[in-house]
Amino acid sequence: MKPLTPLLLLSLLPAIAFADKVELRTPNNSFVVELKQGAEPQFLYYGPALKSQDIENLEKASDANWSCADLYPAYGATHTQNEICLAMRHSDGNMSTQMLIDSWKESNVNDLAPNGAKRSGQLLTITLSDPLYPITVHLYYLAYDDVDMIESWTDITNGEKKTVTLTQFYNPLLPVRRGNVYWTHFNGSWASEAQLIELPLANGLVEVKNKDGLRNSATDRNEIMLSLDGPARENEGDVIGAALCYSGNFRITIDTDESDYHQYFAGINPDNSEYHLKRGETFTTPHSAYTYSTRGTNGATQAFHNWARKYQLRHANQERMILLNSWEGVYFNINQEGMDQMMKDIASMGGELFVMDDGWFGDKYPRNIDNSSLGDWVVDTRKLPDGIPGLLRDAKKNGVKFGIWIEPEMANTVSELYEAHPDWIIKAPGREPVQGRGGTQVVLDLTNPKVQDFAFSIFDNLLSNYPEIAYIKWDANAPVMNHGSQYLPMDEQSHLYIKYHEALIQLCQRIRAKYPDVIIQDCASGGGRANYGLLPYFDEFWVSDNTDGLQRIFMQWGTSYFFPAIAMASHISAVPNHAVFRTTSLKYRCDVAMSGRLGMEIQPKNMTDDEKAFCRQVITDYKRVRPVIQFGDLYRLHSPYAGDNLASLMYVSQDKQQAVFFWWKLETFKNQHVPRIKMAGLESDKYYTVHELNRIDNKPLSCEGKSYSGAFLMQTGLEMPYTHDVDHNKLNDWASRVLQLTAE
Ligand code: GLA
Repeated sequence: MKPLTPLLLLSLLPAIAFADKVELRTPNNSFVVELKQGAEPQFLYYGPALKSQDIENLEKASDANWSCADLYPAYGATHTQNEICLAMRHSDGNMSTQMLIDSWKESNVNDLAPNGAKRSGQLLTITLSDPLYPITVHLYYLAYDDVDMIESWTDITNGEKKTVTLTQFYNPLLPVRRGNVYWTHFNGSWASEAQLIELPLANGLVEVKNKDGLRNSATDRNEIMLSLDGPARENEGDVIGAALCYSGNFRITIDTDESDYHQYFAGINPDNSEYHLKRGETFTTPHSAYTYSTRGTNGATQAFHNWARKYQLRHANQERMILLNSWEGVYFNINQEGMDQMMKDIASMGGELFVMDDGWFGDKYPRNIDNSSLGDWVVDTRKLPDGIPGLLRDAKKNGVKFGIWIEPEMANTVSELYEAHPDWIIKAPGREPVQGRGGTQVVLDLTNPKVQDFAFSIFDNLLSNYPEIAYIKWDANAPVMNHGSQYLPMDEQSHLYIKYHEALIQLCQRIRAKYPDVIIQDCASGGGRANYGLLPYFDEFWVSDNTDGLQRIFMQWGTSYFFPAIAMASHISAVPNHAVFRTTSLKYRCDVAMSGRLGMEIQPKNMTDDEKAFCRQVITDYKRVRPVIQFGDLYRLHSPYAGDNLASLMYVSQDKQQAVFFWWKLETFKNQHVPRIKMAGLESDKYYTVHELNRIDNKPLSCEGKSYSGAFLMQTGLEMPYTHDVDHNKLNDWASRVLQLTAE
């Protein structure tokens, strides 16, 4: 038995003076809290939408103790042993804080989402304060009217006469009723991003975190799913999807103590980031986004995809162009002739955009490898004598749009920029800077307004001088390697990570205010910045520097849990693959790349005429099915992680008239059998005609041109041959299929 605390005694009193159950409602979900003046806010329910009488009767889990259903435990007054959301040192040194309800307010919201789209919803604002100190916290809950998404965040205001120090600042926690709960999270490394891991939640504490400083999705990711009734299933069972919409260091903790709830905490990583909040200042936390699905993992995925396409992603209602990026084709070997040839080649295959990657800049120090020139964003006229006008001229001639790569937050110590502004970089006070990629890469200190202006000027110079530039690839290839800002005062050094990301978002907002139309790719050593903190300012992200067809299936699978295909840049590249040296067939690579935002990452000059012709056909077909893949609903059908050598997924248009089905075998052994795949998301009574795309077989599939009911396709599914029917000299061990389904 725990000793009865004053708070528990209070809650046992029969009269619940001024208590209220407040429901937040999205189309299919209810989120209910219990609020009572002078008490801590209590969680009651998150799940399928409730009727009012059921809300009246709601109660906490029977064994809920005094800590676990509090939405915002603060350290020191009543919470000491349990995990907490807020911890601070008051100006007089007192380390205890108590956050009790002053008032709450419900209001309708009609405003602009971060991507600029209009949104409407219901906002609950709970005002908390400390009885002893003038510290005010607002907890915010925003429930969207048209998607099953609730966002929650806080702001903390210091009303004390002097500075207070925040040492922990999570969002309100989400209690999750214990049962048979499994959590899915995503972990990776460079070239192996978003690997899916699913584990049961047992007693104890589990955590995912990032401390890179810049690239917060390179290793652990800040999105998780919780399956509430056993291991997650795609189309059945209750699942909560949760994302922290933040680009910086984060920490997500799920604590399972003796109570009836798993407690999910998410927020800025407080490690080495204590925050000195001056008198009158307010600290705002990044948003958490939640959805609750009764249709398994897929329901949670679809809610996130809908929310992303409506309110998070730039230009989400515009089809994405098919592009060729120069990186894997030529690396740093940029020159006018080569760029012209690549533009001509991608145009001849039906592509719509050419992106010139790294290697185009540097005057005093040419960027021939990765050890110099970042910061010197002037065209290297030895390589490109006609400069950007010459490239735009060639693009126009070839009938493609033009895009360019930059890395605005970085410098090399071998650069004119560093020579002029050695004080602009992040480095530990009094120490030599640690240098990263190429032995000379350093990170610019975005907390410095002069650096912010410089980073903005890189975009501004390119886009105002050359408004025809249609696309920017924004890269970031270094972490914070030693801690220190040369701009922030010594007593604010611990603000570095937080201020950096505040400045990064402000930079994005400034760019978007002036250049709303340009397409911007979010890249950071591959998929290091796939997060909902940054995505509202970007059109897409680079999934990984690993473009190997096989490993991409796994990475894109994991990435698809929270991010829609329209945002996932997915390119056909050469073999042996530059990251894993595997040789897959061109068809296999095309069939994988086509399941995302299709592009190419290859030197077309090195392709045979047959290969080019095949890619031309792939691009033609992709254009036809592009709206289904980019705007349709995703159904994951068979996981590559299941371990039985098969992966399959499909996209279905919102009106269920069109679908595209992908099927990839993962390895080949004789006498190896894979299951028949049942489709999903179709209309049972509709008949769908099947047409194979990217076909290489001599004979069409037996299902080619035939019509099947949605019911048959979903209950039984089509038989797929395990190998391809091709001439002997074309046989290889890769097998995959893409089928287009069209309702009659
Ligand atoms: C990073 C990116 C690549 C490429 C290189 C260029 O690794 O992820 O796509 O742009 O930088 O140096």
